[in-house]
Amino acid sequence: MDPLYLRRRLLLVAAVCLTCGLFAVAADEPSLTKEQIKQFLLTAKVVHSKESKKGATHTVRLTLSDGTITHDASFQALDQHKREMKLANGTTELNFVDSYKYNIAAYELAELLGMDDIVPVYVERKWEGNTGSLSWWLPVKMDEAERYKQKIAAPDPDAWNNQMFKIRVFDQLVSDADPNLTNVLIGENWQIWRIDFSRAFRLNKDVKSPKDLVRCDRQLLEKLKALDANAFTEKTKRYLTKDEVKALMARRDKIVAQFQTMIAQKGENEVLY
Ligand SMILES: Nc1ncnc2c1ncn2[C@@H]1O[C@H](COP(=O)(O)OP(=O)(O)O)[C@@H](O)[C@H]1O
Ligand SMILES: [Mg+2]
Repeated sequence: MDPLYLRRRLLLVAAVCLTCGLFAVAADEPSLTKEQIKQFLLTAKVVHSKESKKGATHTVRLTLSDGTITHDASFQALDQHKREMKLANGTTELNFVDSYKYNIAAYELAELLGMDDIVPVYVERKWEGNTGSLSWWLPVKMDEAERYKQKIAAPDPDAWNNQMFKIRVFDQLVSDADPNLTNVLIGENWQIWRIDFSRAFRLNKDVKSPKDLVRCDRQLLEKLKALDANAFTEKTKRYLTKDEVKALMARRDKIVAQFQTMIAQKGENEVLY
């Protein structure tokens, strides 16, 4: 084939793909890289604030602007440590922690696992004298609590399940003591996000709900196997203790082992996708 013709064709393909990419972004969603989003969240000026409507811990919805882009973000400054905490379900949790730091640790972990399309970017930022986590506000149409209540079915059950299986693996890995349905957010195209990890990173070395591990994305399983304790420690050293990292690595081992057992019993195609 004429190399010039080939080059023109490649250029045309590239142009078409670029256009698709642009149209895939909602009109009010600026298309930024994760690094640009981080920089924006770290440095843009806060121009407006209001108390969030949902959630129990009084997060604040901030509007930020860098002069070019204006976008909202969720600010969470909670950093509560208690020897004993009586929970809403009647049980008591010892050495209870509810901290904004875990939101940032969860995002760092999501990056290492290639799940940063499911967890929004969280950075550490100071606002009005308080240090907290700041997350990029997502274009949400409803949360999972609303979807469940209104019994709205996702249009593509396979695509929905494939995202949910990933979230389930992530939930068991981070050991969230409060994985409630208002922390699962749904976008226009039915993509799912998982937010709010302020009660995660518990010290249990066992997987709390092994039955939640049903299937696993192939790439996620590879990334889980490859998760390196030193790299994870380095990325989260400002947010997690050594014991929290150790417990997570122990759960990682158990999650991988459980999937390997399931593969041996049921066959790879039943378990992985
Ligand atoms: N990044 C975000 N994008 C869109 N909505 C968000 C975001 N972060 C929080 N929210 C909304 O604010 C609510 C409360 O925030 P959350 O971080 O879950 O704190 P908490 O539940 O501890 O009060 C969420 O349930 C969700 O509706
Ligand atoms: Mg919440």
